[in-house]
Amino acid sequence: MPGLTLGDTIPNLEVESTHGLIKLHDFVANSWTVLFSHPGDFTPVCTTELGKMAAYADEFSKRGVKLLGLSCDDVLSHVEWTKDIEAYTPGCKVGYPIIADPNREIIKQLNMVEPDEKDSSGHNLPSRALHIVGPDKKIKLSFLYPACTGRNMDEVMRALDSLLLAANHKNKIATPANWKPGEPVVISPSASDQEAKEMFPQGYKTVDLPSKKGYLRFTNVE
Ligand code: BEZ
Repeated sequence: MPGLTLGDTIPNLEVESTHGLIKLHDFVANSWTVLFSHPGDFTPVCTTELGKMAAYADEFSKRGVKLLGLSCDDVLSHVEWTKDIEAYTPGCKVGYPIIADPNREIIKQLNMVEPDEKDSSGHNLPSRALHIVGPDKKIKLSFLYPACTGRNMDEVMRALDSLLLAANHKNKIATPANWKPGEPVVISPSASDQEAKEMFPQGYKTVDLPSKKGYLRFTNVE
């Protein structure tokens, strides 16, 4: 499944991890899950990223969201590397499982291959991919970054908050550019004005635009 993308169901792989064998669908169960890959153990950017993810673990947990990492080395290597990660980001505890993929098979099935980075035997390394998977096991959002660019975990959290908010409002709201939690949201084009009045009794404001089409409607939700 090389093209795994938005709306696709993640394959129900059985994988080895630092927490033992995991079946992906059982792991997700009825929760939202952030599944994120890293090019390799004992590499600089990855060490900073896994530490940051661990530092945000309480925020994910508050939202009922599970974390699942992946790096291409084996479990023993992950365990050794975790000591470096925790030393580099003091106070952080890597409490989430890290999948091992020494044969680079899992990354192919999860669309997490970095085409430009190869190991010494010529096998592709994982990219910095991140899939947010919903309780229905479907991909709701994907980031695909190359090895040279570390991710911004504030943006992961912001995007996750947007997804959770939209899901809590039957996907009849969406979040505008640069939105942050607490700011007004827009009403989805799939909601008619009548539906919007019923769904948002607190009211909404339609922005007057030259087209007069009335499609940019803001409201406040919790
Ligand atoms: C890193 O994590 O620093 C890294 C890994 C592979 C290629 C480039 C950078």
